[in-house]
Amino acid sequence: MEKITFTLSVHSIRYEGASTRLIELRPPAGTYLPPVEAGAHIDVHISPTITRQYSLCNTPGETHRYIIGVALDPCSRGGSRALHEVIKEGDTLNIGGPRNHFELLQSEDHSVLIGGGIGITPLLSMALQLEAQQRTWSLHYAAKSADLAPLFHTISTLAKQARYGQVNVYFSQPVSQRMQVSKIMADAPKGSHFYCCGPLKLLDDFDACSEDYPSNHCHSERFSGDLDVAKGGYTIVLARTGKEIYIKEEQTILDALKAEKMNVTYACAEGVCGSCEVKVLEGTPDHRDDVLSESEKARNDTMMVCCSGAISKRLVLDL
Ligand code: FES
Repeated sequence: MEKITFTLSVHSIRYEGASTRLIELRPPAGTYLPPVEAGAHIDVHISPTITRQYSLCNTPGETHRYIIGVALDPCSRGGSRALHEVIKEGDTLNIGGPRNHFELLQSEDHSVLIGGGIGITPLLSMALQLEAQQRTWSLHYAAKSADLAPLFHTISTLAKQARYGQVNVYFSQPVSQRMQVSKIMADAPKGSHFYCCGPLKLLDDFDACSEDYPSNHCHSERFSGDLDVAKGGYTIVLARTGKEIYIKEEQTILDALKAEKMNVTYACAEGVCGSCEVKVLEGTPDHRDDVLSESEKARNDTMMVCCSGAISKRLVLDL
């Protein structure tokens, strides 16, 4: 499995929204990063045991920096709290990726971007790309209030400068202006592509409304999975060594690989980040992740080993 990591320095930190830090990461002088793609995310290795995924929110094509927006999660298990309270300018961070499972399609059709809270970050990057490509778009952004809205200043500036798109903001305080996903989708021009990122409730609404539209026009990204992990009871074969490992009933492939002391890349362990993706050479996976699209799952040539299992009795993996 290809594993790309960089050590980047924390060039600047600024607040945009009362509890959102924008952290700009730069490579060593004279070196460059893979170009920013709209919708891409990176793994931030915060400590030996904590890795989190953050979408890039800077202008697509940039190679001299990555910018991530980090909202302080009141229920933080250590990730966002460390990035808010421990990391400071001048520190270094190890980064994995970037990976993109939320790509902005190159289509002439109108794009509708629907975001909530910190889920705005990949959509901002998409809006910047659409604007640069002179393609029409609309952005619908729901947040608690102007003070708390992540990236509100940047979004407001974009709203004033945009020539090909428009921004609609919905706040729940002080007076609730609820964002209605069904209405946004119904009012969109025919053939629009819809992109959604945000809290689970918003994503669930989006999934429910998407049933009325072609699945290849509805795109979303989840960073916290409601995961139904596949059960064991099958054998994996590691193609590079021929080693066979039986996956026990309550085990995932990732658990088994870790038990074998194999160096496996993973981050969320919840089927939402894509970092544990492995090529499947033989056999049929039982896909349980929120990363691969339906058509990618149907190809059965790759799988997320943290949560997916096997329908066949045997899976041969490119490991
Ligand atoms: S570790 Fe994130 S999808 Fe498997």
